[in-house]
Amino acid sequence: MTLTITPRDPARPDFAGEVRGIDLRKPLTPDEVSAVAAGMDHYAVLVFRGQDIDDEQQLAFSRKFGPMETATGDIAKPEDRRLSMDVNDISNLDKNGNVLARDDRKRLFSLGNMLWHSDSSFKATPAKYSALSARVIPESGGNTEFADMRAAWDALDQETKDLVRDMVTVHSQIFSRGILGFTDFTDDEREKWAPVRQRLVRRHQSSGRLSLYLSAHIGGIEGWPMPEARALIRDLTEHATQRQFVYAHVWRPRDLVMWDNRATMHRARRYDATKVRDMHRTTNADSAPTLEQPV
Ligand code: OGA
Ligand code: MN
Repeated sequence: MTLTITPRDPARPDFAGEVRGIDLRKPLTPDEVSAVAAGMDHYAVLVFRGQDIDDEQQLAFSRKFGPMETATGDIAKPEDRRLSMDVNDISNLDKNGNVLARDDRKRLFSLGNMLWHSDSSFKATPAKYSALSARVIPESGGNTEFADMRAAWDALDQETKDLVRDMVTVHSQIFSRGILGFTDFTDDEREKWAPVRQRLVRRHQSSGRLSLYLSAHIGGIEGWPMPEARALIRDLTEHATQRQFVYAHVWRPRDLVMWDNRATMHRARRYDATKVRDMHRTTNADSAPTLEQPV
Protein backbone atom coordinates (compact mmCIF):
# COMPACT_ATOMS: atom_id res chain seq x y z
CA MET A 1 0.00 0.00 0.00
CA THR A 2 1.45 3.38 -0.92
CA LEU A 3 0.48 6.30 1.24
CA THR A 4 -0.70 9.36 -0.69
CA ILE A 5 -2.03 12.70 0.51
CA THR A 6 -4.02 14.94 -1.81
CA PRO A 7 -5.96 18.15 -1.16
CA ARG A 8 -9.69 17.62 -0.48
CA ASP A 9 -10.25 20.70 -2.64
CA PRO A 10 -7.71 21.22 -5.45
CA ALA A 11 -8.44 24.95 -5.33
CA ARG A 12 -6.98 25.01 -1.80
CA PRO A 13 -3.73 23.03 -2.00
CA ASP A 14 -2.45 23.67 1.53
CA PHE A 15 -5.52 23.08 3.74
CA ALA A 16 -7.33 19.77 4.43
CA GLY A 17 -5.75 16.75 2.79
CA GLU A 18 -7.06 13.22 2.29
CA VAL A 19 -4.78 10.34 3.22
CA ARG A 20 -5.10 7.09 1.26
CA GLY A 21 -3.17 3.83 1.46
CA ILE A 22 -2.99 3.47 5.26
CA ASP A 23 -4.71 1.08 7.67
CA LEU A 24 -5.09 2.56 11.14
CA ARG A 25 -5.98 -0.84 12.64
CA LYS A 26 -2.29 -1.73 12.36
CA PRO A 27 0.65 -0.07 14.14
CA LEU A 28 2.06 2.70 11.95
CA THR A 29 5.55 2.22 10.52
CA PRO A 30 8.11 4.99 11.14
CA ASP A 31 7.73 6.02 7.48
CA GLU A 32 3.97 6.31 7.85
CA VAL A 33 4.36 8.39 11.03
CA SER A 34 6.74 10.77 9.21
CA ALA A 35 4.42 11.05 6.22
CA VAL A 36 1.37 11.82 8.39
CA ALA A 37 3.35 14.37 10.45
CA ALA A 38 4.59 16.06 7.27
CA GLY A 39 1.03 16.02 5.94
CA MET A 40 -0.19 17.70 9.13
CA ASP A 41 2.50 20.39 8.84
CA HIS A 42 1.32 21.16 5.33
CA TYR A 43 -2.46 20.60 5.41
CA ALA A 44 -3.30 21.16 9.14
CA VAL A 45 -6.35 18.86 8.66
CA LEU A 46 -6.15 15.27 7.39
CA VAL A 47 -9.07 13.01 6.49
CA PHE A 48 -8.70 9.20 6.69
CA ARG A 49 -11.73 7.35 5.29
CA GLY A 50 -12.89 3.79 5.97
CA GLN A 51 -10.97 3.28 9.23
CA ASP A 52 -12.88 0.71 11.29
CA ILE A 53 -10.97 1.18 14.54
CA ASP A 54 -11.67 0.73 18.25
CA ASP A 55 -10.41 2.94 21.09
CA GLU A 56 -7.21 0.93 21.60
CA GLN A 57 -6.28 1.22 17.92
CA GLN A 58 -7.11 4.92 17.92
CA LEU A 59 -4.94 5.47 21.01
CA ALA A 60 -2.05 3.50 19.49
CA PHE A 61 -2.30 5.73 16.40
CA SER A 62 -2.38 9.00 18.36
CA ARG A 63 0.45 7.96 20.70
CA LYS A 64 2.79 7.92 17.69
CA PHE A 65 2.53 11.72 17.57
CA GLY A 66 3.62 12.56 21.10
CA PRO A 67 2.34 12.71 24.68
CA MET A 68 -1.41 12.41 25.16
CA GLU A 69 -3.85 14.63 26.97
CA THR A 70 -6.35 13.21 29.41
CA ALA A 71 -9.98 14.24 29.20
CA THR A 72 -9.87 16.64 32.16
CA GLY A 73 -11.91 19.19 30.20
CA ASP A 74 -14.96 16.89 30.17
CA ILE A 75 -17.82 17.69 32.52
CA ALA A 76 -18.86 14.09 33.28
CA LYS A 77 -17.70 12.81 36.67
CA PRO A 78 -15.25 9.86 36.42
CA GLU A 79 -17.95 7.44 37.62
CA ASP A 80 -20.36 8.68 34.94
CA ARG A 81 -17.89 8.34 32.06
CA ARG A 82 -18.67 6.06 29.15
CA LEU A 83 -15.09 6.00 27.79
CA SER A 84 -11.64 5.83 29.39
CA MET A 85 -9.91 9.00 30.65
CA ASP A 86 -7.66 8.90 27.55
CA VAL A 87 -10.58 9.33 25.17
CA ASN A 88 -12.79 12.40 24.87
CA ASP A 89 -16.43 11.43 24.59
CA ILE A 90 -17.80 13.57 21.74
CA SER A 91 -21.22 11.92 21.72
CA ASN A 92 -24.76 12.58 22.85
CA LEU A 93 -24.88 9.34 24.87
CA ASP A 94 -24.93 8.50 28.57
CA LYS A 95 -22.75 5.74 30.03
CA ASN A 96 -25.38 3.14 29.13
CA GLY A 97 -25.39 4.24 25.51
CA ASN A 98 -28.75 6.04 25.63
CA VAL A 99 -29.28 9.41 23.95
CA LEU A 100 -29.06 12.18 26.55
CA ALA A 101 -32.19 14.09 27.50
CA ARG A 102 -32.52 17.53 25.94
CA ASP A 103 -31.84 19.29 29.25
CA ASP A 104 -29.04 16.95 30.37
CA ARG A 105 -26.11 18.90 31.80
CA LYS A 106 -23.49 16.97 29.82
CA ARG A 107 -25.40 17.62 26.61
CA LEU A 108 -25.84 21.35 27.30
CA PHE A 109 -22.16 21.68 28.13
CA SER A 110 -21.17 19.81 24.95
CA LEU A 111 -23.06 22.36 22.84
CA GLY A 112 -20.00 24.57 23.40
CA ASN A 113 -18.45 22.52 20.56
CA MET A 114 -20.74 24.40 18.18
CA LEU A 115 -18.73 27.58 18.78
CA TRP A 116 -15.50 28.03 16.81
CA HIS A 117 -12.68 26.86 19.07
CA SER A 118 -9.28 25.25 19.38
CA ASP A 119 -9.19 22.18 21.63
CA SER A 120 -7.99 22.65 25.18
CA SER A 121 -6.92 26.26 24.64
CA PHE A 122 -8.23 26.59 28.22
CA LYS A 123 -5.38 24.37 29.48
CA ALA A 124 -1.99 25.87 30.38
CA THR A 125 -0.41 23.56 27.80
CA PRO A 126 -3.11 23.21 25.17
CA ALA A 127 -3.72 20.50 22.56
CA LYS A 128 -1.52 19.80 19.55
CA TYR A 129 -3.36 17.23 17.41
CA SER A 130 -6.92 15.98 17.85
CA ALA A 131 -8.09 12.81 16.11
CA LEU A 132 -11.85 12.32 15.88
CA SER A 133 -13.29 8.96 14.86
CA ALA A 134 -16.91 8.69 13.68
CA ARG A 135 -18.44 5.54 15.12
CA VAL A 136 -22.14 6.36 14.62
CA ILE A 137 -23.40 9.45 12.80
CA PRO A 138 -26.88 10.84 12.18
CA GLU A 139 -28.28 10.64 8.65
CA SER A 140 -28.07 14.38 8.19
CA GLY A 141 -26.46 17.38 9.85
CA GLY A 142 -23.59 17.20 12.30
CA ASN A 143 -20.83 18.29 9.92
CA THR A 144 -17.60 19.52 11.45
CA GLU A 145 -16.09 22.70 10.01
CA PHE A 146 -12.44 23.67 10.14
CA ALA A 147 -10.96 27.14 9.63
CA ASP A 148 -7.37 27.76 8.54
CA MET A 149 -5.85 30.19 11.05
CA ARG A 150 -2.64 30.51 8.99
CA ALA A 151 -4.54 31.76 5.96
CA ALA A 152 -6.56 34.02 8.28
CA TRP A 153 -3.36 35.55 9.64
CA ASP A 154 -1.88 35.99 6.15
CA ALA A 155 -5.02 37.82 4.99
CA LEU A 156 -5.05 40.39 7.81
CA ASP A 157 -4.15 43.96 6.91
CA GLN A 158 -0.82 45.26 8.23
CA GLU A 159 -2.42 47.57 10.78
CA THR A 160 -4.33 44.72 12.42
CA LYS A 161 -1.26 42.45 12.35
CA ASP A 162 0.72 45.12 14.22
CA LEU A 163 -2.11 45.63 16.70
CA VAL A 164 -2.52 41.96 17.67
CA ARG A 165 0.99 40.53 17.19
CA ASP A 166 2.02 40.60 20.88
CA MET A 167 -1.39 40.23 22.49
CA VAL A 168 -1.99 37.86 25.39
CA THR A 169 -5.50 36.43 25.77
CA VAL A 170 -7.15 34.62 28.69
CA HIS A 171 -9.05 31.38 28.07
CA SER A 172 -11.50 29.33 30.12
CA GLN A 173 -14.33 26.89 29.47
CA ILE A 174 -16.38 29.11 31.77
CA PHE A 175 -16.11 31.89 29.14
CA SER A 176 -17.10 29.72 26.14
CA ARG A 177 -20.10 28.26 27.98
CA GLY A 178 -21.05 31.72 29.19
CA ILE A 179 -21.56 32.75 25.55
CA LEU A 180 -24.38 30.15 25.39
CA GLY A 181 -25.79 31.10 28.78
CA PHE A 182 -24.49 27.97 30.48
CA THR A 183 -23.36 29.26 33.87
CA ASP A 184 -24.19 26.41 36.22
CA PHE A 185 -20.64 25.48 37.31
CA THR A 186 -19.67 24.00 40.67
CA ASP A 187 -16.93 25.59 42.79
CA ASP A 188 -14.66 22.66 41.88
CA GLU A 189 -15.19 23.26 38.17
CA ARG A 190 -14.54 26.99 38.54
CA GLU A 191 -11.27 26.22 40.27
CA LYS A 192 -10.24 23.48 37.82
CA TRP A 193 -11.03 25.71 34.82
CA ALA A 194 -9.59 29.00 36.08
CA PRO A 195 -8.44 31.19 33.17
CA VAL A 196 -5.06 30.55 31.51
CA ARG A 197 -2.95 32.94 29.39
CA GLN A 198 -2.13 32.28 25.73
CA ARG A 199 -0.55 34.13 22.86
CA LEU A 200 -2.92 35.44 20.20
CA VAL A 201 -0.37 35.04 17.41
CA ARG A 202 1.79 31.94 17.26
CA ARG A 203 4.40 30.48 14.98
CA HIS A 204 4.10 26.85 13.95
CA GLN A 205 7.25 25.07 15.08
CA SER A 206 7.53 22.86 11.97
CA SER A 207 6.04 24.83 9.08
CA GLY A 208 7.26 28.20 10.36
CA ARG A 209 3.89 29.77 9.49
CA LEU A 210 2.23 32.33 11.76
CA SER A 211 -1.39 31.85 12.78
CA LEU A 212 -4.13 33.48 14.80
CA TYR A 213 -4.74 31.52 17.98
CA LEU A 214 -8.44 32.17 18.45
CA SER A 215 -11.01 30.18 20.42
CA ALA A 216 -14.48 30.58 21.93
CA HIS A 217 -12.73 29.99 25.27
CA ILE A 218 -11.21 33.49 25.10
CA GLY A 219 -12.76 35.86 27.64
CA GLY A 220 -10.36 38.78 27.52
CA ILE A 221 -7.12 40.36 26.35
CA GLU A 222 -4.56 41.35 28.96
CA GLY A 223 -4.50 45.11 29.50
CA TRP A 224 -7.76 45.69 27.60
CA PRO A 225 -11.21 46.55 28.98
CA MET A 226 -13.39 43.45 28.64
CA PRO A 227 -16.04 44.75 26.20
CA GLU A 228 -13.37 46.16 23.89
CA ALA A 229 -11.41 42.90 24.08
CA ARG A 230 -14.44 40.76 23.34
CA ALA A 231 -15.50 42.99 20.45
CA LEU A 232 -12.03 42.65 18.89
CA ILE A 233 -11.95 38.86 19.40
CA ARG A 234 -15.40 38.61 17.80
CA ASP A 235 -14.22 40.71 14.88
CA LEU A 236 -11.10 38.57 14.36
CA THR A 237 -13.16 35.39 14.63
CA GLU A 238 -15.55 36.68 11.98
CA HIS A 239 -12.61 37.45 9.73
CA ALA A 240 -10.94 34.08 10.33
CA THR A 241 -14.05 32.00 9.65
CA GLN A 242 -15.01 33.43 6.27
CA ARG A 243 -15.91 30.70 3.81
CA GLN A 244 -12.65 30.94 1.89
CA PHE A 245 -10.80 29.76 5.00
CA VAL A 246 -13.21 26.93 5.87
CA TYR A 247 -13.30 23.23 5.04
CA ALA A 248 -16.63 21.56 5.95
CA HIS A 249 -16.31 17.85 6.64
CA VAL A 250 -19.38 15.75 5.82
CA TRP A 251 -18.93 12.64 7.94
CA ARG A 252 -19.20 9.05 6.81
CA PRO A 253 -19.13 6.25 9.36
CA ARG A 254 -15.51 5.14 10.04
CA ASP A 255 -13.97 8.46 9.01
CA LEU A 256 -11.13 9.68 11.16
CA VAL A 257 -10.25 13.36 10.92
CA MET A 258 -7.09 14.70 12.51
CA TRP A 259 -6.39 18.41 12.95
CA ASP A 260 -3.66 20.66 14.28
CA ASN A 261 -5.13 22.84 17.03
CA ARG A 262 -2.14 25.19 16.76
CA ALA A 263 -3.16 26.23 13.25
CA THR A 264 -6.94 25.70 13.00
CA MET A 265 -10.27 26.24 14.70
CA HIS A 266 -13.26 23.93 14.34
CA ARG A 267 -16.92 23.69 15.26
CA ALA A 268 -19.73 21.13 15.20
CA ARG A 269 -22.88 21.87 13.22
CA ARG A 270 -26.43 21.20 14.36
CA TYR A 271 -28.13 17.81 14.06
CA ASP A 272 -31.31 16.11 15.31
CA ALA A 273 -30.70 15.66 19.04
CA THR A 274 -32.87 12.52 19.18
CA LYS A 275 -30.48 10.67 16.79
CA VAL A 276 -27.27 8.97 17.93
CA ARG A 277 -23.99 10.72 17.16
CA ASP A 278 -21.05 8.83 18.62
CA MET A 279 -17.57 10.25 18.03
CA HIS A 280 -14.40 9.40 19.97
CA ARG A 281 -11.51 11.84 20.21
CA THR A 282 -7.88 11.20 21.13
CA THR A 283 -5.68 14.23 21.71
CA ASN A 284 -1.97 14.98 21.78
CA ALA A 285 -0.76 17.66 24.17
CA ASP A 286 1.43 20.47 22.86
CA SER A 287 5.00 20.71 24.16
CA ALA A 288 4.62 23.88 26.28
CA PRO A 289 2.32 26.83 27.08
CA THR A 290 2.11 29.13 24.04
CA LEU A 291 3.85 31.98 25.89
CA GLU A 292 6.91 29.75 26.28
CA GLN A 293 7.05 29.07 22.54
CA PRO A 294 9.11 31.33 20.27
CA VAL A 295 7.37 33.49 17.69
C1 OGA B 1 -14.06 17.95 19.15
C2 OGA B 1 -15.12 18.80 18.55
C3 OGA B 1 -16.80 18.80 16.82
C4 OGA B 1 -17.84 17.86 16.34
O1 OGA B 1 -14.11 16.73 18.97
O2 OGA B 1 -13.14 18.52 19.75
O3 OGA B 1 -15.16 19.98 18.78
O4 OGA B 1 -18.32 18.05 15.20
N1 OGA B 1 -15.95 18.15 17.72
O5 OGA B 1 -18.22 16.95 17.09
MN1 MN C 1 -13.23 20.57 19.76
